[in-house]
Amino acid sequence: MEEQLLSLLRQMTLDEKIAQMLQLATPFFKGADDEGMITGPMAQMGVSEQQVQNAGSVLGLSGARQVINIQQAHLNHNRLGIPLLVMSDIVHGFKTIFPVPLAIGCSWDPELAEKSAEIAAREASVSGVHVTYAPMVDLVRDPRWGRVMESTGEDPYLNSLFARAFVRGFQGKNLTEDTDRVAACVKHFAAYGAVEAGRDYNTVDLSERQLREYYLPAYKAALDEGCEMVMTSFNTVDGIPASGNRWLLRKLLREEWGFNGVVISDWGAVKELIPHGVAADEAEAAYKAVRAGVDIEMMTPCYVRHLAKLVENGDVEERLIDEAVLRILRLKQKLGLFENPFRGADPQREREIVFCEAHRAVSRELAAKSCVLLKNDNVLPLSKEQRIALIGPFARSGDILGSWSWQGSQEDAVSLYEGMASKTEASRLLVAEGCGVETRGTEEQRSEALAAAREADVIVLALGEHSGMSGEASCRADIRLPQAQLELIQELKPLNKPTVAVLFNGRPLDLHGLVDEVDAVLEAWFPGSEGGAAVADLLFGEARPSGRLTMSFPYSVGQVPVYYNAYNTGRPHVPDAPDHYVSKYLDIPNEPLFPFGFGLTYTTFEYGEPRLSADEMTEDRPLTVSVRVTNTGPLPGEEVVQLYIRDLAGDVVRPIKELKDFRKISLEPGETAEVAFTISERQLRYYHSDLTYASDAGEFRVYVGPNSRDAAELRFRLTKKREAGDPAWQ
Ligand code: BGC
Ligand code: BGC
Repeated sequence: MEEQLLSLLRQMTLDEKIAQMLQLATPFFKGADDEGMITGPMAQMGVSEQQVQNAGSVLGLSGARQVINIQQAHLNHNRLGIPLLVMSDIVHGFKTIFPVPLAIGCSWDPELAEKSAEIAAREASVSGVHVTYAPMVDLVRDPRWGRVMESTGEDPYLNSLFARAFVRGFQGKNLTEDTDRVAACVKHFAAYGAVEAGRDYNTVDLSERQLREYYLPAYKAALDEGCEMVMTSFNTVDGIPASGNRWLLRKLLREEWGFNGVVISDWGAVKELIPHGVAADEAEAAYKAVRAGVDIEMMTPCYVRHLAKLVENGDVEERLIDEAVLRILRLKQKLGLFENPFRGADPQREREIVFCEAHRAVSRELAAKSCVLLKNDNVLPLSKEQRIALIGPFARSGDILGSWSWQGSQEDAVSLYEGMASKTEASRLLVAEGCGVETRGTEEQRSEALAAAREADVIVLALGEHSGMSGEASCRADIRLPQAQLELIQELKPLNKPTVAVLFNGRPLDLHGLVDEVDAVLEAWFPGSEGGAAVADLLFGEARPSGRLTMSFPYSVGQVPVYYNAYNTGRPHVPDAPDHYVSKYLDIPNEPLFPFGFGLTYTTFEYGEPRLSADEMTEDRPLTVSVRVTNTGPLPGEEVVQLYIRDLAGDVVRPIKELKDFRKISLEPGETAEVAFTISERQLRYYHSDLTYASDAGEFRVYVGPNSRDAAELRFRLTKKREAGDPAWQ
């Protein structure tokens, strides 16, 4: 097999090889529905017709018929008959849209996440897609950054579990045989989530230890699961933009981690080495990117315009080009494209399975599991006997898919109104918009809302951010609800009716102006195609809220970044202690409004005293911590029992809590479950000052509970045999 590829490579001219390293958007290609739409810019970019004909891959393409047409036209014009690779952003569903990844994270259900990716792959593949630019596994701590909605949150352990689950779901076990799967491309390598001040594309500057400890594990987890591709990030990593960063891409990714798949730049990121200020011109950008190990340049022409010359000059070894092209060809081979260049694309089957009932049912289930109940003062679940006023800009809106749902259709999305109307008599459901997402309601809209509210026993407010307010290049400095919606809340308040707020949004919000004004808050995120149905299931108690936050909700944006696995500082603030010279704010608490791991249910759980099997652990003798959890409320419910650990004296400072394990359990009223976790020495390892990955002998705390704040504490010791020359103090 490899021999065939090598022989193909030998037949290729240098120009043909370099063209394989070019990726362009769909309108550049013959046979595209929008062919030629950007041929003007093509000429401006300096890409020749010949180069497009030999290009290795296309971006943003789908639709079985269109893919077949483009592939056919491509093969007709391509001297060696090398098929095009079709890549697209299938991030949280293809046409059946699932909740945004941040919401999926809150399900704490990697198995269901895997299923969502499997369905996304099936729909994408039958529509002709070969590679998805997913999963996005950037660790995030700053809700101002619009792209937090693409990530599963602030915890490296949980993010790694989801990274693996998504890769398994997209790729399956055998990409060659199983044409219902697509290759995955983990992104954005690396540490894009740490952009300063939450502003997109901004600088990232982290110590190598921070990088390895928190930011890298999820990418590594995706690769350990067999992820075929890596996409670079737009940001700098220690002063050098990722797409030209030899340490990051060659030393760490290829040499240390042994990754031998395809690395693609993010959109335009090779040419962006120029404005970043590390390349004087396109030629230098190409030089730096290819030497760093970027195999495919997305959407800029630095490679196709300059690499040949750089090779001829002797500045770039042709071996580097050959390696990159071979990796691209290998991926094409793995996907079976040489045998069947159309792969899964099938217009007939596409009509049958894309957006089918079965797929939508999984979306509905996942949406219900992704919602997080943040507050509930005895209003939820609603009863079908109540007269309900559904008010707000999201009452009838289909804008609940979230960013990266380009194939999804808002018209086909189940709105909250539709979801609720299918469950309760029309005469009991009044609906009014009240205001726009960002625009104040007209006189008429406001009086309509007031009239509906007056008639009702309970008000359900459907509020949030429209989908363009989060996602790429959609950062906000003020993360409260838009003013128009805060005013709507105030206008309805004097009626003194029980009020539930359902939030549709893509980031943790500052909930001031909302949380104290209403009786219940259900965070629905952007829940996807079946969003309104899933939320209605929850509101009426036909499904039960079980989501838990995977990203802290700040008390105010002034705390940001605020995350649970922070360091203690030398002067930790002890709430209610009067000490002035401690790490705190004068005007707001240190704690987030809702912490990592938090979420309510329709019932209550009582935790017994946790017990440790012993108070001492050794490297070969793990411990068990167990706890009894009882459903003490009136309804069945799901609890996420969480295990955290803290190392009390490390070589470097250690977080006050780190999630190490969790268990999702389902209990009937009155039922008790015993939950046991094993803690082993491996889970206590971390990066020391010299970057060795090891544990410390000494004292640890272990916490078991319903979230990162309210967990009961126990202690144990790790004892180790001292080795000669062991620098550890203990
Ligand atoms: C985004 C990537 C995406 C790519 C291709 C870029 O702007 O940063 O996440 O995969 O475009 O659409
Ligand atoms: C301050 C120092 C000061 C010292 C003695 C500390 O709390 O941080 O700046 O010099 O007190 O007054």
